[in-house]
Amino acid sequence: MHIHPEFHRFLNRQDKEQLLRQRGIVVWMCGLSGSGKSTIANAAERVLHKQGRFTTILDGDNLRTGLNANLGFSDNDRLENIRRFAEVAKIFVSQGIIPFVSAITPRGELRDLARGLLGEDMFEVYIKASYEACEQRDVKGLYAKAARGEIQHFTGKDGSFEPPQNPDLVLDTETTSIEDAAFELLEAIRERIAHAERI
Ligand code: ADX
Repeated sequence: MHIHPEFHRFLNRQDKEQLLRQRGIVVWMCGLSGSGKSTIANAAERVLHKQGRFTTILDGDNLRTGLNANLGFSDNDRLENIRRFAEVAKIFVSQGIIPFVSAITPRGELRDLARGLLGEDMFEVYIKASYEACEQRDVKGLYAKAARGEIQHFTGKDGSFEPPQNPDLVLDTETTSIEDAAFELLEAIRERIAHAERI
């Protein structure tokens, strides 16, 4: 292939982290649709923003209207969806930014793919809520549609969901409030994002 990736000439991650006075990390949030991934990411991001941290949220529904608009919910498409999420998150974290990924990421194979690309930069959070709890909330009305047979490959129904085996953190939204979950998450990453030279 006639491509020549250039990294050495460009400003590096340390230069960017120095500027931002923070260290980058990818907060990868997986869990069923309606489990609370984006809600917790939103709450946590707002706190960090107030503290002067540079963050962003990469959300499944949002990316699927743009970058990933050509992908559906087959196993292959979800694999490509997650590969793109991980590659985009990798660009952000290489700039010292803190991206929150909010994507169902339903299978171990998908999380392994992300970890293969992100390595130590990936902080895996399982947003835990049962199918029944998410169905009760049904914020987007998708569970009702799935029950009527109107959605194919719906995660947790006819699409598989394998709970992560070894996540860095589990937040159970059936027993923990959004505020408490966001606080717990922020505590868990506090040291990882602290910059040595920040006063
Ligand atoms: S993932 O499985 O590939 O990681 P992603 O997080 O990008 O999924 O997108 C999930 C969102 O797409 C859900 O929150 C929901 O709003 C919507 N959606 C539409 N169809 C499905 C489906 N069959 N299964 C799950 N989510 C779906």
